[in-house]
Amino acid sequence: MDSLLTYENVEISFEKCPVVHDISFSLHEGEILALVGESGSGKSTLIRSALGLLNDNGKVTKGEISYKGTNLLSLREKELRQIRGAEIGMIFQDAKGSLCPIRTIGDQILESMCAHGKVNKAEAKVRSLELFEKLSFKDGEKIWNSYPFELSGGMNQRAGIAISMLLNPSILLADEPTSALDVAVQKQVVDEMLALRELFGTAIIIVTHDISVASAMADTVLVLKDGYKMEYGPAWDILHNPTNDYTKMLLSAVPRLKKRREIV
Ligand SMILES: Nc1ncnc2c1ncn2[C@@H]1O[C@H](COP(=O)(O)OP(=O)(O)O)[C@@H](O)[C@H]1O
Ligand SMILES: [Mg+2]
Repeated sequence: MDSLLTYENVEISFEKCPVVHDISFSLHEGEILALVGESGSGKSTLIRSALGLLNDNGKVTKGEISYKGTNLLSLREKELRQIRGAEIGMIFQDAKGSLCPIRTIGDQILESMCAHGKVNKAEAKVRSLELFEKLSFKDGEKIWNSYPFELSGGMNQRAGIAISMLLNPSILLADEPTSALDVAVQKQVVDEMLALRELFGTAIIIVTHDISVASAMADTVLVLKDGYKMEYGPAWDILHNPTNDYTKMLLSAVPRLKKRREIV
């Protein structure tokens, strides 16, 4: 199967000082890749670089990042803007922060969908409510009419993910989408992302420092430490049979997984 997104020997530097070193991986259609590592290991930097979302002082200094065969690093800002959202969606830890506080969810959906010129307003609303229903939102019409402050943190995150998906991207980059949420709500967000893969075949890179989230979702896992790749491969192998000492240490901090390993 052809790769959708490929990183080849990527190095990323801030102010000429490398923080991500020699990272290579391929993401295929419908694949869920978990990018795992402690805070500061370079996870956000790595995924943001694909969309040209590093700060001004950040730059890919070696290697290549390609999407469907196009080198993303050679694109102009205008060309990248067409890929952001419509081809590669992105969601963040702070859903409320990435939504506009003074406009309803519905208005924000209309803006996002109409900006990309995909549909008219009536169609946009119909498609949104259909997706809300598929994702088991309790009262789609009410969510459509709500302001972000009227929704819980979990519901904001779920609405944010749905908004990203309405543009039908082939890849969703999710940067710690569950980290700010209670455990029960985390599960709903994980289930929503799994449902999206089922419904649309979306490939997902889930960035998380939480091994149990990786375990619940991922087909493949890449473990990062201080910007270096520690381990990369099928999720089951890495989470149940790690060969790298750092991965073993990360796993030993997760009681739930350890238990499951004992049962298997
Ligand atoms: N804008 C920036 N300027 C300078 N250094 C940065 C910047 N953003 C991130 N870094 C550094 O890059 C490294 C990786 O950070 P980050 O990608 O945010 O890690 P993670 O997402 O895994 O917590 C850290 O050492 C961080 O200090
Ligand atoms: Mg981060």
